[in-house]
Amino acid sequence: MKIICTLFITIIFSAAALATQPSIYGENGVVVAHDLEACEAGIEILKKGGNAVDAAVAVSYALAVTHPQAGNIGGGGFMLIHMADGQKVAIDYREMAPGQAHRDMFLDDSGKVVPQLSVRGGLAVGVPGTVAGLQLALDKHGSMERKKVMKPAIKLAQKGFTIPYDLAYSFGWLNKAAEGFDETRRIFCRDGEIYMPGETFKQPDLAKTLKLIQKKGNAGFYTGPVAEAMVKSSSKYGGKISSQDLMNYTAKIRKPVIGNYRGLEVISMPPPSSGGIALISMLNMMEPMVFDSVGWHSAQHIQMIAEVEKRAYADRSVWLGDSDYFDVPQDKLLSKEYATLRMADYDSLTITPSDSIYPLNDKDLAGIELIGQESEETTHFSVVDKWGNAVSVTTTLNWSFGSYVTVDGFGFLLNNEMDDFSSKPGEPNSFGLIGNEANAIEPKKRMLSSMTPTILAQDGKVVLIVGAPGGSTIITTVLQVIHNMVDFGMPVHDAVNVPRFHHQWRPDVIHYGPGSISPDTMVLLEAMGYELVPRYGYGEVNAISRDKIFGGWVGAPDLKTASHGAAY
Ligand code: GLY
Repeated sequence: MKIICTLFITIIFSAAALATQPSIYGENGVVVAHDLEACEAGIEILKKGGNAVDAAVAVSYALAVTHPQAGNIGGGGFMLIHMADGQKVAIDYREMAPGQAHRDMFLDDSGKVVPQLSVRGGLAVGVPGTVAGLQLALDKHGSMERKKVMKPAIKLAQKGFTIPYDLAYSFGWLNKAAEGFDETRRIFCRDGEIYMPGETFKQPDLAKTLKLIQKKGNAGFYTGPVAEAMVKSSSKYGGKISSQDLMNYTAKIRKPVIGNYRGLEVISMPPPSSGGIALISMLNMMEPMVFDSVGWHSAQHIQMIAEVEKRAYADRSVWLGDSDYFDVPQDKLLSKEYATLRMADYDSLTITPSDSIYPLNDKDLAGIELIGQESEETTHFSVVDKWGNAVSVTTTLNWSFGSYVTVDGFGFLLNNEMDDFSSKPGEPNSFGLIGNEANAIEPKKRMLSSMTPTILAQDGKVVLIVGAPGGSTIITTVLQVIHNMVDFGMPVHDAVNVPRFHHQWRPDVIHYGPGSISPDTMVLLEAMGYELVPRYGYGEVNAISRDKIFGGWVGAPDLKTASHGAAY
């Protein structure tokens, strides 16, 4: 009954074709993404007869214009596709380490990690993958020409768009933070005369770059003047990317990882993302648990999920990395048998301290309690079309505005994805995540990601498209949306918008969003030995689910971050 009432309430608020309401409903196509302009770009392509892959490429390029904190052409991402005929494909356009990268490149002479070296400036930049990845997606599963799908983004860059408050705020913040990065301040901060909310933001340099890509495809980006400028701009700030690195970049088609949770097929991203394996492994650990009489976000509930999360993140730190370079024991980590074994020491009444979850044979790991500086600036969007093709995309520059290096004269930022490697195996990165040999730096290797674009299907038909930004919190965010829907019967809008919590094994603390854990529950959890740390504004989930009553699709943008949806 609760589900039906909530559905009706959200539908009443969601009748418009293009809208920013809490939920939107469409039968022919839905796009949910950070910016309304990007959603509209996707709907425009769907209305012109394009499929969900065509629309996803249009949305991605539009976000490179409207959401420069994370939308990009100078970064990378993952696209998960479930075609209506049942084909499931993962497209990997993760950045690669430059050919001159090496294991100790972020260490000083005494072997200590040099703060910020992997985060800002040229050395932080991985070889960008987005342009190659979008082209591969279009070639393999799209139906339209690049020329058409890039049109909305080029128009947005040329004619401009109205700067929303959150973007103006970020530009104001960037103006101070990016001191010394003159091109970045010229493009995004008008050389210090910062943009006000409501002004129009035009990007002629970016429009020129997009037109080159539109005309020449990969050659317009990975060779010629744009490539030359990328090499020069990154090297100006100490970077080592060469024209050879750019010319040799390849996006890859990978086989998605697939699990099963209570009868639903869970399809997600394989390495070099840790997301899919960690997600499915957590769901496997949760499957024997019975939630019928467990109160949502009660102490008992939070204990159950936190213990699962800790075990999966402990495994992540040791076993996950680029599978082209490291032998990831994927089948084992995805098996139900392994989940049973992993939970053998789980006790529903007590805490298992992180120290005893993974046998710490590396002394360097002892006592690490550092969360590091956080950044949540990845972005996720979901698309579905009238044929039932579904696309789930997470894309990023890593931190907000990436490395702060903007390519001179071409108007786009380069990523700082090198920080997602383990600069020193055993030491936490900026997300507080610990990696080991599996994620050590090697030339041309792809750094481990947490991005978790995911699709759920039932009897071969898509029922949910989901994903999120949020660095290390991405995987537990996606987990909780699925858990809220499957185990607590929440409609997608509620599942996306209720507060969340997060445990990543190290540091041994539960992070919680505003309103996530009541004061009484905190007392109970602290009595069990859990340490609780508040955390604000993470995980902009942009999801779409099949509507069981009307048969169409419900788009659920994350209201915490004023995300958007459009449908028709
Ligand atoms: N840069 C964040 C991630 O890939 O997980």
